[in-house]
Amino acid sequence: MNLNAKKLIVNLKIHSLIAFLFLFITGHTALAQTRILAPTPPMGWMTWNQFGPDISEELIKEMADAMVNSGMVTAGYEYIIIDDLWQAERDKNGILQADKNKFPNGIKALADYVHSKGLKLGIYSDAAHRTCGGAVASYGYETTDARIFAKWGIDYLKYDYCNAPSEKDSAIVRYKRMSDAIQKSGRDMVFAICEWGQREPWLWGSSIGGQLWRTTWDIRDTWQSKKYDSGHAGIMNVLERQVGLEKFSGPGKWNDPDMLIVGLNGKGQSSSHGGAHGCSLEEYRSQMSLWCLLNAPLIASNDIRSMNEEIRKILTNEEAIGINQDPLGIQASRIYTHNGFEFWAKPLSDGSLALGILNRNNKSGETSFLLKDIGIKGKQMVRDLWLHQAMGFFTNAIAITVPGHGVRLLKLTTVE
Ligand code: GLA
Repeated sequence: MNLNAKKLIVNLKIHSLIAFLFLFITGHTALAQTRILAPTPPMGWMTWNQFGPDISEELIKEMADAMVNSGMVTAGYEYIIIDDLWQAERDKNGILQADKNKFPNGIKALADYVHSKGLKLGIYSDAAHRTCGGAVASYGYETTDARIFAKWGIDYLKYDYCNAPSEKDSAIVRYKRMSDAIQKSGRDMVFAICEWGQREPWLWGSSIGGQLWRTTWDIRDTWQSKKYDSGHAGIMNVLERQVGLEKFSGPGKWNDPDMLIVGLNGKGQSSSHGGAHGCSLEEYRSQMSLWCLLNAPLIASNDIRSMNEEIRKILTNEEAIGINQDPLGIQASRIYTHNGFEFWAKPLSDGSLALGILNRNNKSGETSFLLKDIGIKGKQMVRDLWLHQAMGFFTNAIAITVPGHGVRLLKLTTVE
């Protein structure tokens, strides 16, 4: 732990310097008109977990309305993303078509509606001939498809990897083909790589033009699965696989531990696979806290039209979201584990530190820590980002109770 703490002190110093350089450089690059796509983790809503194939123009419009009316837009959410099974077959000229039964007015009209709400529209394809759900996909048609997506007004492309060759080299070639096609299309589209972390996309995703890459198999609506495989990955299984990936995350390049399962309550068609049947409110709140600390894209997947107030409050906690959207973009590291408690620390651009204390135990318990042990010096003002209140000033140690499977999300600011 001492070693980790020392590392963190050094990191904090380096990060303050980086923060200064970042603000200096962004000021100048703004002048030079250079832009980073997804400078902070993308935030939005995606169809797959809850609705699977049961998607339509009407559903997407209702979700866009709900995103505005629920306060999610005010909290920072902006993308509505259509996942798999929106497609029909190509027409005789090879142009990709939307399923007319689901999208009678076509995707362009839908994009216009979504844009009229001040939101952005995302869509899905795959780097093979067929998608995971068996629909027609983009391999060999990258230029044609990128052009039509641009023409429709698409702002985000999730690009899956079912039915494609397993080697890393092929994946890099296939992802680069689509990324190049997007760039040539003349429209900004966030490019979301989805090969489930099987070919270390954090090593090559950014260099081929991706802004985010899935790091794990699909997340299921459960706290923890006994095994981690393509059908079983709970919040804790996914969390475990983020350790070591911190350095690959930053403005315009994000590790993606998959969608928020907050509020699914076992209703998701896909996320309930493998016996997963929902999480407690505390566990959903923990996913939100951890995903904010991890710089994860915040992509809700529950039915935001009918969510209750408790779920809405989790998804729209602006103080937690502020940690996720911090412009410095440093992913939290797990700096200390003890008796089932884990300390996750994320340095912020204002020089303060976001600290998540996770209790993996089933029961509520108290833990305490010395500030010096987490690499902090000087008097700290501590704020609880879920209670939205100050906890007071601390100079030496903090003792804190954390509910079972809960996370206490704190912000520590040096005042002296
Ligand atoms: C894969 C992806 C999911 C979803 C489905 C759609 O499993 O990982 O997120 O897009 O395909 O078929």
